[in-house]
Amino acid sequence: MLKKVQELVEKVNNYTPESEEDLNSFRIEYLGKKGVLNSLFSSFKEVPVEQKKGVGSSINNLKSLVQEKIEDYKDSFEDEDPVSEIDLSKPVSLDNLGSRHPISLVRNQIVGIFNRIGYTISEGPEIEDDWHNFSALNLPEEHPARDMQDTFFVQTNPDVLLRTHTSSVQVRYMEKKTPPIRTLSPGRVYRNEAISARAHCIFHQVEGLYIDENVSFSDLKQTLLYFAKEMFGEKTKIRLRPSYFPFTEPSAEVDIYLGINTDSDYRITKGTGWLEILGCGMVDPNVLKNCGVDPEKYSGYAFGMGVERIAMLKYGVKDLRLFFENDVRFLKQFDRSV
Ligand code: DAH
Repeated sequence: MLKKVQELVEKVNNYTPESEEDLNSFRIEYLGKKGVLNSLFSSFKEVPVEQKKGVGSSINNLKSLVQEKIEDYKDSFEDEDPVSEIDLSKPVSLDNLGSRHPISLVRNQIVGIFNRIGYTISEGPEIEDDWHNFSALNLPEEHPARDMQDTFFVQTNPDVLLRTHTSSVQVRYMEKKTPPIRTLSPGRVYRNEAISARAHCIFHQVEGLYIDENVSFSDLKQTLLYFAKEMFGEKTKIRLRPSYFPFTEPSAEVDIYLGINTDSDYRITKGTGWLEILGCGMVDPNVLKNCGVDPEKYSGYAFGMGVERIAMLKYGVKDLRLFFENDVRFLKQFDRSV
């Protein structure tokens, strides 16, 4: 028996597996239920007592040798030829594709809605001068309405600031182009405000401007109704409340009707069912003049809205700060295909 085991040890020592299957049959041959080792162990009973010790340890030794052999070669066949296992013609898996930021989704949706009725996109600098952000818009120095938009200045120069609204882009656009003008200016704006669930020092606006002969307030109203229906659904109702902006006259704020179906509707609409979504008005003739447009010949309307506010409403987001934290768990929830 001892001799037989020694022969087997030698055999195992000399064995080199050629493939994964080869190693597998080696394993079954030795360690399988009806394998060599089990049969050795069962014939162990017949070994005379005085030889038991020596034979037992040699069988155990053989077993370890077999296990080591398997362990040593087990990994060498994996990834043997990794390239041949990859199907290079397979379409890319979309599982790990990122999602678009909800602010970009809403911005793109707003832009799309106005593109369909002929608005083009215009953009301007985020670092502005006093003229384009304030003075040309009927907000001369010392005008109290400047307090509505607490401003970040760049260094100590009062003429260089971070734009507080994208209305500055409409000034630049009118200075360069002649009517008819139909343009939409999306962009990032800055205000020196305390950060909370409802306010941030950086946010996004979309400003619209339409200038031509005989543009009237009813054109404005119809355009905004179209927008509200496209954005929030066919049944959406709007109302315009008189308001004040230095650059428009008359000015209005636009509310959409949410109704009061939940506690949160009650809270965000302050019990009225109506929620403000944008500011608008007929461009003040003085602003047209400042920008080189003849107010005798042309009239126009403008409107401006906050993208975060619309995104909060659309996606039911209660805290505006989530848009800026870039927490992947939050961002992953939004449609990746748009
Ligand atoms: N610029 C305003 C703001 O940031 C928004 C606004 C209101 C823009 C009325 C307009 C407008 O063009 O007509 O609060």
